[in-house]
Amino acid sequence: MSTKKISTAVIKRLPRYYRYLGELLENEVVRISSKELSQRMGVTASQIRQDLNNFGGFGQQGYGYNVEYLYSEIAKILGLENHYSVIIIGAGNLGQALANYTDFEKRGFVVKGLFDVNPRLVGISVRGIEVQDMDSMKQFVEDNNIDIAVLTVPKTKAPAIANDLSECGIKGIWNFAPIDLALRDTHVIVENVHLSESLMTLSYRIKDESESL
Ligand code: NAI
Repeated sequence: MSTKKISTAVIKRLPRYYRYLGELLENEVVRISSKELSQRMGVTASQIRQDLNNFGGFGQQGYGYNVEYLYSEIAKILGLENHYSVIIIGAGNLGQALANYTDFEKRGFVVKGLFDVNPRLVGISVRGIEVQDMDSMKQFVEDNNIDIAVLTVPKTKAPAIANDLSECGIKGIWNFAPIDLALRDTHVIVENVHLSESLMTLSYRIKDESESL
């Protein structure tokens, strides 16, 4: 497989391919042409071929793609054959909702700990995981080889927590706080999730549609 640098745009499309291929597998589809896959996904067949060619192709002329093989190769590219140990920092509405969502675990993201500063939350259990005080967070990350921290705290608190996390060797931060974290001179990967931006895009498209009528 090629080791060249792959563009972020391509990487961002891979989970969608993975999801569609997973659905095809569930429906016991063995193979699919790039044309058929493109029609299902609403992208062009050449886009799919171009994207997958970054990793060596996977398709065969006249055969298309073997669904199971492509699914497992995309899983490898995305690092999904690994298991990740996860903590959630901020056990409020969103933190608890994420902790209660079991599908992440099926993908290999296992929640090992929940942390909060609120004494009323410390000690409660969410899906069998006890909320711990922030004082024990750094030691917990080190002792349990935690890979990923989910940040569901107020935005004013997020930068300091992110710094603490980088000091104790976290690999990635899945940041929900509405702030762009700048972690300079570290190897910590930050992935921001801003649902409100998606909502604003929806607002724009609704407005655009109604103006064109
Ligand atoms: P919440 O108020 O229910 O929960 C926040 C929790 O963080 C509280 O339990 C609080 O005690 C805890 N906390 C505060 N300071 C802390 C610290 N220094 N260390 C550890 N825990 C601390 O709020 P909610 O609704 O769960 O939202 C959490 C964050 O996620 C907010 O920043 C909010 O703006 C953001 N959010 C982001 C979304 C997105 O699409 N990215 C969607 C919804 C919320």
